Amino acid sequence: MTVLEAIQKSTDFLAKKGVESARLNAELLLAHQLNLPRMKLYLNFDRVLTTAETDGLRELIKRRATREPVQHITGSTSFCGCEISVSRHALVPRPETELLAELGWKFLAEHRPPTRLEDDSQKHAGPEAGAPTALDFGTGTGCIAIALAAKCLIARITALDISPDALALAKENAAQNKVAERVEFLLGDGFAALEGRWGEHPREVKSDSQNDSPEVSPHQFDLIISNPPYIASAEIETLNAEVKDFDPRGALDGGADGLDFYRRLVKEAGPFLKPAGKIMVEFGDGQADDLKQIFAAEKWIVEAVQEDYSHRARILIAHL
Ligand SMILES: C[S@@+](CC[C@H](N)C(=O)[O-])C[C@H]1O[C@@H](n2cnc3c(N)ncnc32)[C@H](O)[C@@H]1O
Repeated sequence: MTVLEAIQKSTDFLAKKGVESARLNAELLLAHQLNLPRMKLYLNFDRVLTTAETDGLRELIKRRATREPVQHITGSTSFCGCEISVSRHALVPRPETELLAELGWKFLAEHRPPTRLEDDSQKHAGPEAGAPTALDFGTGTGCIAIALAAKCLIARITALDISPDALALAKENAAQNKVAERVEFLLGDGFAALEGRWGEHPREVKSDSQNDSPEVSPHQFDLIISNPPYIASAEIETLNAEVKDFDPRGALDGGADGLDFYRRLVKEAGPFLKPAGKIMVEFGDGQADDLKQIFAAEKWIVEAVQEDYSHRARILIAHL
């Protein structure tokens, strides 16, 4: 069987099994089997596959026909140019989330506000005092945190998740992408993951009566960025098998109306933001209006709602 014949046969089989974009999937899996970039297949249409290659491809295609995501089968995906390993322990990074990461690293690169730590004796500050900082809330594979660190080389990132397995994967990904020294991973339920990190909790930081500029705690970040679970619980069963059967439920379930994490963020995030800090969150289709209300109700100023590349409102940016 030639490369072209293998693509055609695999495409037909996957299409019959209801796999979307069957041809693309067939090409991705054949390229993985042959250890070639996908585009190289087009230069090798007449190449005859060995028996081992044909058998290997058959196994990959069978797995995909059970609706296992192609990224789980190949073991990784590209996110903002970073190679991110994926597994059943964390959500497969989505292309639309790349835009959130891009907005995040652009903000960090441009936004380097002077802090009291720089003006002061820097007694609490490490060698990187003044580096822009971000908190990735619900890091999963670590894709956002890693992209921020990879694209903004002066930034320091803290990433938290409630899943120990996801965090272990995220740590491996940070090491693979050579940003582990600037990304700190914390396990815990939301902001509780930060407890005890450097002792002082931001709510306990007193403003300095001698000085107009607000006290900045090492727990406070220039940016809080999050792609939280945002699917309404009852909707999960209606999603594609690739999502409902393979992404962890804890990465999808946003409560009865999908908005629980935003309610939590607007109530809890404030003390963890520096005075000129921003929050950037991804959200789902049709959630923009509710989200704006949720933020406004807790006195956040919604600065922008950005569309993704398919022109769907997808990212909300706000500050206090
Ligand atoms: C939609 S996934 C996003 C993963 C990754 N940031 C991305 O964009 O691909 C949401 C993540 O939030 C984590 N999560 C869910 N509940 C959490 C909680 N209470 N505290 C911290 N993380 C939580 C999940 O484990 C999951 O990894």
